[in-house]
Amino acid sequence: MSKRFYITTAIDYVNGQPHLGHAYEKIIADVIARARRSLGQEVFFLTGLDEHGQKVQQAAQAEQKNPQEYCNALAADWQAFAQKLELTNDDFVRTTQPRHKEFVQATLAKLNAAGHFYKATYTGFYSAKEETFLTEKDRLPDGTFDASYGEVAELKEDNYYFKLGAQQQWLIDYIEANPDFIAPSYRRNEVLGFLKNNTLEDLCISRPLARLNWGIPLPFDPEFVTYVWFDALVNYTSIAAAHGDEAVLPHSTLSTQNSKLSLWPADIHVIGKDIVKFHAVYWPIMLKAMGLALPKQILVHGWWQKDGAKISKSTGNVIDPIAVINEWGLDAFRFYVLRELDIGPDGNWTDAGFRSRYQAELANGLGNLVNRSLSMLKRYRNGVVPAKSNELAADAAKAADETRALFKQGQLQAALQSIWGLVNRANKFVDETAPFKLAKDPAQAQRLDEVLYNLAESCRVLAVLLNPFLPGTSAKIYAQLGLTGTPDKLAEATWGGLVAGHAIGEPAPLFPRKDV
Ligand code: MSP
Repeated sequence: MSKRFYITTAIDYVNGQPHLGHAYEKIIADVIARARRSLGQEVFFLTGLDEHGQKVQQAAQAEQKNPQEYCNALAADWQAFAQKLELTNDDFVRTTQPRHKEFVQATLAKLNAAGHFYKATYTGFYSAKEETFLTEKDRLPDGTFDASYGEVAELKEDNYYFKLGAQQQWLIDYIEANPDFIAPSYRRNEVLGFLKNNTLEDLCISRPLARLNWGIPLPFDPEFVTYVWFDALVNYTSIAAAHGDEAVLPHSTLSTQNSKLSLWPADIHVIGKDIVKFHAVYWPIMLKAMGLALPKQILVHGWWQKDGAKISKSTGNVIDPIAVINEWGLDAFRFYVLRELDIGPDGNWTDAGFRSRYQAELANGLGNLVNRSLSMLKRYRNGVVPAKSNELAADAAKAADETRALFKQGQLQAALQSIWGLVNRANKFVDETAPFKLAKDPAQAQRLDEVLYNLAESCRVLAVLLNPFLPGTSAKIYAQLGLTGTPDKLAEATWGGLVAGHAIGEPAPLFPRKDV
């Protein structure tokens, strides 16, 4: 059984409704998953929810709900959201599921038996908002703590700790020896800088029941629940185990597996820049202690702002992805977030920017190309594809070759730019060859055939290249070309797929113009 390409997103806290940032991360992962399938690979794409911990417990309390019922209600919204985005995830993890809890407990028991944990008394400061302990080092020059920590309380309590001290050097060596482990490279450099200039403090992996009961009980001490991050990170392996992955099964006590997939190690963990330390420092150390291989890549995206300010429910500075999708269509939304922002830097959503890309690149660019190409083929040749002609073949091959390479590198914005190279070339070809003039001159019939073939075939190649990004649009282009099946194999982007005599379907606008 061959190992699948295994890609994950962070699992979201269920303390509210999904917003643009969550949508963005899931779309990145979905496009990479679809792109890999298009390259012919078998893929497993995992997303889901992080349901334990103080944030969720407090959110449930605020609504006077039992935390599980609170999570169940919101989980339905989040799962509907994944469908709204047409994610092709193969599973959806919720950390309150028995299959996950069982694996976390088995992992904790093993690590404890192997001597990785110790119990100690902690006296210091705690931020409930960030669920993190703070030290004197975290104080600002004026003695207070950063506002991002919320209310910081002083406390003294017993907890279990995971020894990290001896782990620092091998991790530094590993990151240096594996330049693709953390991408983009500036995030890698930040992690290296952090590891080289600080001594790792042991990680507190428990919370006393008296303070937090919404968590997975420690298997070796019923007075404690598991720290939410230790629970959450393990989802990447617990779900592999739930699918019978031999690589992680030794950590599972589940006796029956209904499927047998080979998933671990993950190929890509897609995450946001705020949780790099958890994924690039704690998670590798946890995995090493578990005796498991490290993920191949941690792919770190930036954060979206709106109109230059932080997205925030309390200030009302939010974008509701569902409202945007309902108004403009899913593919316009998927296109904008990936075309506007490369994976790495921070981005800024503006409604004007969204409209302008919709109008210029989707309606006037891609939409106009497909619509006029197919309408002219319909009008001048009754919708029947003429003999093969290769004038745009090299342009199409260039876009396909670049897209293939960029898909493998996870360079989604660059792939879109390359694909639009072909869109623009083909639109220019219409202007240069002026088929509407050729159609008036019977002596130009053969030239018109050539032009119409090149345009229709370019549209077909575009449907294939665009499929991971704009699955709905890609399917529409295929259907309008009168082709059956789904354009989901990159190998089909080879020039010459349309054969002479084939009858196309009905052209219809892909991106209706909006009065704005
Ligand atoms: N539950 C943890 C992750 C555990 S993974 C084992 C968590 N959840 S979260 O809901 O706060 O964030 C989920 C993801 O959304 C993170 O990768 C985070 O970076 C991302 N984003 C949250 N707000 C964002 C933006 N404004 N822009 C882009 N991504 C953002 O952290």
